[in-house]
Amino acid sequence: SFLAPALLLVLTAQALHVAAKCPFHFGRARVDENVGAVLQAEPRRMLLTFDEAAVQKLDINAVKADLKALFVDSQESWPADFGHYGPLMIRMAWHCAGSYRLSDGRGGCDGARQRFDPERSWADNVNLDKARGLLWPIKQKYGDALSWGDLIILAGDTAIESMGGPILGFCAGRIDDADGAASLPLGPSLDQEMVAPCSVNGECEAPLGASTMSLIYVNPEGPLAVPDPELSAPQIREVFSRMAMNDSETVALIGGGHAFGKTHGACPTGPGPNPMQQPWNPWPGTCGEGPMKGKGNNTFTSGFEGPWTTNPIRWDNEYFVNLLKYDWKVYVGPGGHHQWEPVLKEDADPEDDLPDIIMLTTDVALLKDPIYLELVKLFAANQTALDIAFSHAWYKLVTRDMGPYSRCLGDQVPPPQPFQAPLPPPPAKIPDYKAVTKAITKALRVISPALPYDPVNGKPYYGALFATLAWQCASSFRQTDYTGGCNGARIRLAPQKDWPQNVAMDKVLKVLEPIKDSFPGLTYADLIVLAGNTALTDAKAKGMRFCGGRSDADSDEPPVTVTPQRVFNDKLVQLKDNAIVMGLTFREAVALKAMIRSPSQQQRLGYSGSWTDNPTRLSNEFFKVLLDNDWVNVTSAAGQLEMKAVGKEGVYMMPCDLAIKWDPVFAAIAQEFVTDSTAFYTAFASGWNKMMNADRFKGPAGNECK
Ligand code: HEM
Repeated sequence: SFLAPALLLVLTAQALHVAAKCPFHFGRARVDENVGAVLQAEPRRMLLTFDEAAVQKLDINAVKADLKALFVDSQESWPADFGHYGPLMIRMAWHCAGSYRLSDGRGGCDGARQRFDPERSWADNVNLDKARGLLWPIKQKYGDALSWGDLIILAGDTAIESMGGPILGFCAGRIDDADGAASLPLGPSLDQEMVAPCSVNGECEAPLGASTMSLIYVNPEGPLAVPDPELSAPQIREVFSRMAMNDSETVALIGGGHAFGKTHGACPTGPGPNPMQQPWNPWPGTCGEGPMKGKGNNTFTSGFEGPWTTNPIRWDNEYFVNLLKYDWKVYVGPGGHHQWEPVLKEDADPEDDLPDIIMLTTDVALLKDPIYLELVKLFAANQTALDIAFSHAWYKLVTRDMGPYSRCLGDQVPPPQPFQAPLPPPPAKIPDYKAVTKAITKALRVISPALPYDPVNGKPYYGALFATLAWQCASSFRQTDYTGGCNGARIRLAPQKDWPQNVAMDKVLKVLEPIKDSFPGLTYADLIVLAGNTALTDAKAKGMRFCGGRSDADSDEPPVTVTPQRVFNDKLVQLKDNAIVMGLTFREAVALKAMIRSPSQQQRLGYSGSWTDNPTRLSNEFFKVLLDNDWVNVTSAAGQLEMKAVGKEGVYMMPCDLAIKWDPVFAAIAQEFVTDSTAFYTAFASGWNKMMNADRFKGPAGNECK
């Protein structure tokens, strides 16, 4: 047995030797496995330099003029179809923006992560490296004033405009990411497999945005490559709704987009290796021979071949007219995939010529759904209806991930759109917040007929509830698409007021109502945040900052209504992922879990009690209790899974609390908070102040409440 330690020593020494010799190998392993944000690293969204003043001064019309000249200047390295790069640019912009998903606000062109893996190598992004390459001289010319994100979208806009299409305007201010980390959850990656696995590729479910990994939406050939338009229609509806597109927007976008350009699949052998496999010459193309191999007429992009209309560089509704005018017959195109060709309808003049056009299974699908069919008929008959529907849907497509109107820069921003959930201006006269604070402090310990409970040592105490209300109001914020937050006080309105985690919050609002009524100009949004701050300050939190001027929404708007609030739940990965989506650091997220919480409040949520019966003091005690005790799983009377401290009466925590103990990175932070209460208070205040003000935008980069 004495050999064992010696052997261990030798093996360890060998392992260390290998590790020392192969840092590259170890470094690579991390990257290859995408051990990224969710599993290990501090959440981050690294941004390149952003110069807001320069963006404001940018002459957008000058950029557009340069783009228009570039579109018709065909290059030998990548010749333009029909002498115009416009269609390629539209596809690039659409694929940059179309990764957006409503489920967690991820994706979209803000950040321009199409330049990085994993998005860069997606099967749907074949040859978009060429499109970005064409734009490089323009990017270089305008420097920091023009981010890649803005340039890609502006190229799409300008392409539509230059071919006669309608554009609503341009919202500038996209900030480029420094890498593709924020796209890892979109997949394919280990992060995505952990947070949102897809069991059948081709039938991936939300929160994933697409039905198929590395495609933007659906398989153009039909679900799981079966060319059945009837099966394809419901899949299109499903995935477009994951981006908050309704039927009219969906049909206008597909047919409006396919008014332009063509599909590319000159031969069946494919585009060649993607950028991840061959970064030095990705997608070289395998069709044809000689200097034109892989380009021009020999291009392989998607593997389908042909245009949708007879003039693919002119905006019109011919796509819709064509869909209705012919019957469509499936065949295998030169690229080896099923596509559809026109055949004359029975009642057509047999002398009629058949145009040299095609449709994809997803295009023919628009004829197979009764609602889509009506829209196809409308757009075929009415060009103006298409112009209006397409221009609005396109603007929403490319701007949705930018968040509220106030984040848009430049002189071509159209008026606020419904998808931006515009808020009314705040009241002109701001109340005396000091006097409001005084009133709230008093209300903390005066019994309210609206909610006569929550005693501490036999006396009324509303602090934990005020803080919870503020947290529930603010924590709907997502830094991924800058939606949610307490500005607007939408927690008063359906559907947020009915979310299970907001139980009893209407009553807490009632407790505060007399204060609201006695201060003209005081909005609910400001009152809620101030009540949370005041309660925490009363509980000895340090450094709560308040900055007023919020307004109250009249009604809830789609971006918030369709997104259920993300809550910390018992899944470790989800816990971390939520922190990332909210824009909190892990330290802040861990610190915030120690929020004051009362036994009766926990009981309202269906638990047996709290970890403390004294919610009047914010401290690092929560972490001591968490780490010092052993816990057993029990089920509360209301059926909630909870954890009870072994050998203690009435000490309960929730699964999401225990997750802090189970996760090594979170546990390390909790241990530090136990031994260093200043570190705890600092992280708590930083996280709290961040969440309370996260939705106060003044331009893309700035928070007006800094
Ligand atoms: C091209 C599929 C929606 C704009 C293509 C191609 C496919 C495709 C397979 C051929 C790519 C190639 O081989 O070069 C789909 C599917 C959609 C969809 C399945 C949704 C169901 C859209 C939307 C837009 C759009 C919403 C824009 C509003 C374009 C354009 C091209 C194109 C402009 C031509 C690119 C070129 O000429 O180089 N699409 N698309 N598509 N798509 Fe779509």
